[in-house]
Amino acid sequence: MDKIRLGIIGMGNIGKYHAEYLLNRKINRCELVAVCDANVAPLEQFKPLKIFGDGGQLIQSGAVDAVIIATPHFQHTTLGIAALENGVHAMVEKPISSHKADAERLIAAHKKHPKIIFAGMFQLRTEPRYLKIQKLIKEDLGEIVRVNWINTDWFRTEAYYASSGWRATWKGEGGGVLLNQCLHNLDTLQWLCGMPARVRGFCQIGRFHQIEVEDNVTVYLEWANGATGTFISSTGETPGTNRFEIVGTRGTLVLENNKLTLTRNEADMLEFSKTAKQGFVKPGSRPEEIAFENAAAPHATMVQNFVNAILDGAPLIAPGEEGINSVELANVMIYSSLLGQTMELPMDGAAWEKKLNQLIAESKIEKKVVKVATDDFASSFRK
Ligand SMILES: NC(=O)c1ccc[n+]([C@@H]2O[C@H](COP(=O)([O-])OP(=O)(O)OC[C@H]3O[C@@H](n4cnc5c(N)ncnc54)[C@H](O)[C@@H]3O)[C@@H](O)[C@H]2O)c1
Repeated sequence: MDKIRLGIIGMGNIGKYHAEYLLNRKINRCELVAVCDANVAPLEQFKPLKIFGDGGQLIQSGAVDAVIIATPHFQHTTLGIAALENGVHAMVEKPISSHKADAERLIAAHKKHPKIIFAGMFQLRTEPRYLKIQKLIKEDLGEIVRVNWINTDWFRTEAYYASSGWRATWKGEGGGVLLNQCLHNLDTLQWLCGMPARVRGFCQIGRFHQIEVEDNVTVYLEWANGATGTFISSTGETPGTNRFEIVGTRGTLVLENNKLTLTRNEADMLEFSKTAKQGFVKPGSRPEEIAFENAAAPHATMVQNFVNAILDGAPLIAPGEEGINSVELANVMIYSSLLGQTMELPMDGAAWEKKLNQLIAESKIEKKVVKVATDDFASSFRK
């Protein structure tokens, strides 16, 4: 094989976005040959591509070597498993599943078919600002002691929530701001800082919108080395803040307003504290701005990497398996809040699945879907 025949399942906001750059031939050795959506009529515009109304049929058609799965979250698991079991390479949109137990099912299917490539669409991992932070953590920051991410610039209107029946429902999505808008940030958080050991969430349900899931959250996090942190998010606040701060023993990193600053300590602060002879002194420190550019085409870079992994065995930027971590974080934050308890990680995925099924069964929400303009959709990418 020297060229991948690719299909997209789910041609809503992001599916159409993927199709656009794929059709403009930004991906080497890859051709978009098929599109699929449960709502098949609008796909006519994509002819002469092959058109399907059912993801399973596309997977079994023999028309594609690989798929991007861009449906609502719950179908990521079922369609992902169907792809892997039929020898079709799968790139699954975030979140890889709606809840941890489903993510484990998807990963188990991949274990049975390890030669099939399974990737997650976590495009923030291609952004130079996060790659620079990753390097600075490894080389300059010392031991991490605190991580704070105020991530409240995810403003969404009631019209957004009314735009699809599945949005912001337990049944259609399995969660709210954590599982949808913040999922990329949660992936980035664990990718850079590792998984916390303990979480206590305080999540408000429908605080700013007529929805049954969380839209305003404050979470306390604790890592195994004793580092502490907070993760704060909201879809109701504007202009909102996006401030990511990582404190290490040798310096502090702050990413805010498109500016990355490293303030280096002249000595490791804990060593300094142990050895200083005076009570009020502190090590000198010096701020330094770290320049970065924005990634030109982060989604396309991820798909190119997926293709290179299939054809050349290139290492994946985001192996599908790693997608379970952000799902687990989103799940445990809301679960901890609902129980009013601090929770240890790894969490019990089966217990959350049971609780989620109870929330689905007790749901009284009746959604009225309203057609809304989505031409500003891509403005939500750079967080
Ligand atoms: N990586 C990113 O930057 C990014 C951005 C937006 C959305 N997403 C993710 O992509 C997914 C879709 O989000 P969206 O905003 O495009 O939603 P959307 O509602 O605009 O589109 C979903 C589409 O899937 C179709 N669909 C539903 N069930 C299907 C099935 N079984 N088979 C085939 N088609 C089916 C729907 O008809 C709809 O057209 C979500 O999981 C979301 O989290 C990722």
